[in-house]
Amino acid sequence: MNDNLATALNDQMNFEFYSAHVYLAMAAHCSADNLDGFANFFLVQAEEERFHGMKIYKFLNDRGRRATIQSLAEPNNTYESVLEVFEQGYKHEMQNTKRFYDLSDIAMNDREHATINFLKWFIDEQVEEEALFDGIITKLKRIDHDSNAFYMLDAEFATRSFDPAAEA
Ligand code: FEO
Repeated sequence: MNDNLATALNDQMNFEFYSAHVYLAMAAHCSADNLDGFANFFLVQAEEERFHGMKIYKFLNDRGRRATIQSLAEPNNTYESVLEVFEQGYKHEMQNTKRFYDLSDIAMNDREHATINFLKWFIDEQVEEEALFDGIITKLKRIDHDSNAFYMLDAEFATRSFDPAAEA
């Protein structure tokens, strides 16, 4: 693969690690608000992002390249509401989708078929991620903070867990 593509993949790997950092900050906000289920949702999300980064780490090595680990920017730690947390998460995922489209454009331009194939998994994953956030935002807009429905959602998210086998 061309250096340009290897660098773009490496940047994406680091962006996935940064995404884990972003979701960890969101989890911390929910934990501080005693919303343990919502916090669990974001802790699982952070694990998924680290897993995504490691997928690219492995691919770079498989293709005779190396992963270069960069420093992470400080994520936002201040939120007004759980709804705002999810809205920012949704925005983050849409930004990530665009990054994968740009990466795919580079790979297609280079006719780097192994990478084009590799990126398909992420593009499918982005469809799921965006739908997940969008669906939760719709629910949160329908219910009041402090209502039973809100705490039921918190209880539902307490059961979310990370399953690497399902992600593979
Ligand atoms: Fe790694 Fe949320 O996409």
